[in-house]
Amino acid sequence: MAYIIGMVSQKGGVGKSTLARLMVREFVAGEMTAKIADLDTQQQTCTYWAGRRAEEQIAPEIQVQSFASVKSALSEAARFDAFVLDGKPNASDQTLEIAKAADLVVIPTGQTVDDLHPGVVLAHSLRKKGIGAERIAFALFKTTGSDRETEAAKAYLAEAGYCVLEGAVPVSTAYGSASDGGKALTETSFRSLNKKASVLAQSVIDRIVELSEREVA
Ligand SMILES: Nc1ncnc2c1ncn2[C@@H]1O[C@H](COP(=O)(O)OP(=O)(O)OP(=O)(O)O)[C@@H](O)[C@H]1O
Ligand SMILES: [Mg+2]
Repeated sequence: MAYIIGMVSQKGGVGKSTLARLMVREFVAGEMTAKIADLDTQQQTCTYWAGRRAEEQIAPEIQVQSFASVKSALSEAARFDAFVLDGKPNASDQTLEIAKAADLVVIPTGQTVDDLHPGVVLAHSLRKKGIGAERIAFALFKTTGSDRETEAAKAYLAEAGYCVLEGAVPVSTAYGSASDGGKALTETSFRSLNKKASVLAQSVIDRIVELSEREVA
């Protein structure tokens, strides 16, 4: 059975597609089979990125497929060890479908209240619709690098009742140009940036394993 990870948000541009690419790259680099289901049929961010990656012949090869519906994406999921659903920019009916299907729902967020608040509103609305709080996790993305602000953001999310993943991905032009060149966040030319992204990816994996072990117990 595949681990299914869903990337959703209330606000657009928070880092869903970037995190989807990071996760699948880490799974594949760790010798697991993985695929991104690109459910953003308009932008197809991950699909185009996979094209750039293939063009540059970057290893490992990463599979991305565009799907018109969550249902058709899920029909493929069992063939992989990990399957990442990359959602549309804003919250929609699709968001709930992704959340229902996912073992772990990840909401990337910046660290200001402007970003945190809509994320929490989305998480609360998912909970009202039956998604367990333990299956929702926030990832701090495009942070400014201020430890004080990061700690304040973590406290805000913990207070709201949600898990905050370890690590934070700061804003960096090096991450942007890595994406432009078909690379994932752990594949920049800077070891310290790769490490930061790797901490976040590992935290997603740890969380999903922890949840699946709880289910077995
Ligand atoms: N840490 C970062 N530093 C700099 N740029 C970043 C970083 N993370 C993501 N970006 C850039 O920010 C933009 C938005 O990121 P991304 O496409 O991952 O967000 P998204 O949530 O999938 O957006 P959408 O809601 O439009 O689908 C992209 O141009 C991406 O390359
Ligand atoms: Mg996207």
